Amino acid sequence: MILPIYLYGQPALRKVAHDINKDYPNLKELIQNMFETMYKAEGIGLAAPQVGLDIRLFVIDLEPLAEDDPKYQGFKKVFINARILEETGEEVSLQEGCLSIPGINENVTRKETIRIKYVDENFVEHDEVYSDFFARCIQHEYDHIEGKLFIDKISGIRKQLIKSKLNNMIKGRVNCFYKVKAVQNKP
Ligand code: NI
Repeated sequence: MILPIYLYGQPALRKVAHDINKDYPNLKELIQNMFETMYKAEGIGLAAPQVGLDIRLFVIDLEPLAEDDPKYQGFKKVFINARILEETGEEVSLQEGCLSIPGINENVTRKETIRIKYVDENFVEHDEVYSDFFARCIQHEYDHIEGKLFIDKISGIRKQLIKSKLNNMIKGRVNCFYKVKAVQNKP
């Protein structure tokens, strides 16, 4: 089932999400729906707050990038109850976008390597280290479960430049090919 993706301005995107356990209702179905929703929107990552749920769950599938670089092949993962334990290495700047903020891409500076603890869809525990683009995607989705967005990390000048676009987004005035849920409806 395709779920509507919550747009910038939705309070759900600003909540610090909480842990879940195996008994979370319809978890398998939710994960499946999140992948389906993400594929439909042509995204490579989606976090639960983006579908209106304040739980520590996000999914990533980098397969679409495997055509250009085989190292991304088969990188399809579910992260539950994730905690980034440390971020190390150089600060790297790279352009990011977000399904909740369509039409906006900005450079974001992040550390190149992370260590993360999480459980997968079978509640098997993992403690892993990721670098470069793998880390970048995880950091972006992880921000979502902490109630943060990539535009929080851009300069004041850049923020000023996208302000009217963001205000339009709150009003539901956005051109988007996938199903979204804005704070207000189009007038
Ligand atoms: Ni995002």
